[in-house]
Amino acid sequence: MLFNRVKSLDAIMATAEKKSLQRSLGAFQLTLLGIGAVIGTGIFVLTAEAAQKAGPGMLASFLVAGFVCGVAALCYAELASMVPVAGSAYTYTYAVVGEVMAWMVGWALILEYAVGASAVAVGWSNHAVGLLHGLGVNFPAEISNADALMAKVQLMFGAAPTPDLMTALQVGGWINLPAVVVAGFVTMLLVIGTTESARFNAILVVIKIAALTAFIALTLPVLHAENFVPFAPTGTVGVFGAAASIFFAYVGFDAVSTAAEETRNPQRNIPIGLIGSLVICTIFYVLVASGAIGAIGAQPLTSAAGAVLAPGSAEMAGRCVAVVQQGLQEPLVCSKEALVHVLASIGWPAIGRLVGLAAVLALPSVVLMMMYGQTRIFFTMARDGLLPEKLSTVHPRFKTPHIVTIMTGCAAAIAAAILPVGRLADYSNSGTLFAFFMVAIAVMVLRLKNPERKRPFKTPLLWVVAPLAIIGCVVLYLSLPLTAILVLPIWGAIGLVVYFSYSRSRSHVGRGIAGSDGEDDPPIYGVKM
Ligand code: ALA
Repeated sequence: MLFNRVKSLDAIMATAEKKSLQRSLGAFQLTLLGIGAVIGTGIFVLTAEAAQKAGPGMLASFLVAGFVCGVAALCYAELASMVPVAGSAYTYTYAVVGEVMAWMVGWALILEYAVGASAVAVGWSNHAVGLLHGLGVNFPAEISNADALMAKVQLMFGAAPTPDLMTALQVGGWINLPAVVVAGFVTMLLVIGTTESARFNAILVVIKIAALTAFIALTLPVLHAENFVPFAPTGTVGVFGAAASIFFAYVGFDAVSTAAEETRNPQRNIPIGLIGSLVICTIFYVLVASGAIGAIGAQPLTSAAGAVLAPGSAEMAGRCVAVVQQGLQEPLVCSKEALVHVLASIGWPAIGRLVGLAAVLALPSVVLMMMYGQTRIFFTMARDGLLPEKLSTVHPRFKTPHIVTIMTGCAAAIAAAILPVGRLADYSNSGTLFAFFMVAIAVMVLRLKNPERKRPFKTPLLWVVAPLAIIGCVVLYLSLPLTAILVLPIWGAIGLVVYFSYSRSRSHVGRGIAGSDGEDDPPIYGVKM
């Protein structure tokens, strides 16, 4: 009884056929869309976090995370080519595995998108504060991060008042105001109906690729082989731990599948866009990571007692301050703007500032894509009757789902205000890994249940690739820090309570209400940037 509510694939596809969105995107623009959504805080900021977890072994971590995303993308591509409609993993699961699991995926996607948007907002804040500093304007530390707040909370929960923790309490901040500002700004853009045009996205992609290319060109020639030794100071556990965090750097390629309705020949172009963007990003990431390690080294920082510190912890923040106060050069693992810091350290501070400027210009669009993805999911779930219909109300003038957008913006701003970037990325990853896991299951179930249906793109070696995606997602999930592992079941349990107490009895599919595929809905967004 529990798994019998399945949306009809034919109905979904018929709706997609009827939609009048112009099909203008080709394979090249889709690849650019994917790169635009993918390159962000992960490479610009979390490289430092990965180094703290794995040392130079983070090179292997980038490959592991890229591989897991690659096999997941191959599964995504088969479903996206068959069901070329917006809604992504949520829609696929609804059509294949049924309503309860679709609800859980939609619920987990809130973690991916809303919390992911907060992580990117914090990454933007780091660069904005750094850029202002470079221009001689010192933004007050009290309102540029939440390190002191975190130290205070840890002390309240009984942590030992180590010197590092006390340093964080004294010099850290209480709220990340720039992150709140960028989240608010993006929310406002979405409410007034701004979506990114393909051309605007292309400009930002060029800016990001130029920044990464400059970084690679300047760091690879000054590579010191000894910086790669010891290669994996924290062992295999460290390498997988870093892979689980740096996975965030690859998230976003699924944005390509949400553009399915605007794509020419989606059956051919969506798989190219998904996989093409992922391959290009992986190549850049591995080169950037090699440059960072080779140029200034990437060994983890240890506490006074010799233990490897947890990245993003208040102790680590305090230790980093102590290292600099001792007159030593700030190590890579301490930097809040990893790439800018590496360039400044090897004598290219001006180019470093330009790379920081590139991040400041381009990261808001990653926040925008993530929040947009979130509002789309909320909107679709509300339209299906699983969330209050009021949430899918469209603003009379702007024609946007302003209520869900403002809700998403507030949640993202609050999380960004008080949590460190690495922790937010880890929470986001736990939701994303669950969604990818379900997509891999859905693609196999559909092959068994519906083998004769036309598959414009078939996942090659499905019975190898999908199980690899599943194993990869489980391994990365279990390699996350304990709090991030716990977030998913706790969040999932809350989701199940909401589902059984509210959504199940109101579901349109459950009540047999026709038209729940939204053919009569107004467009979600109108104006293009
Ligand atoms: N992959 C995106 C980033 O790293 C979410 O910012």
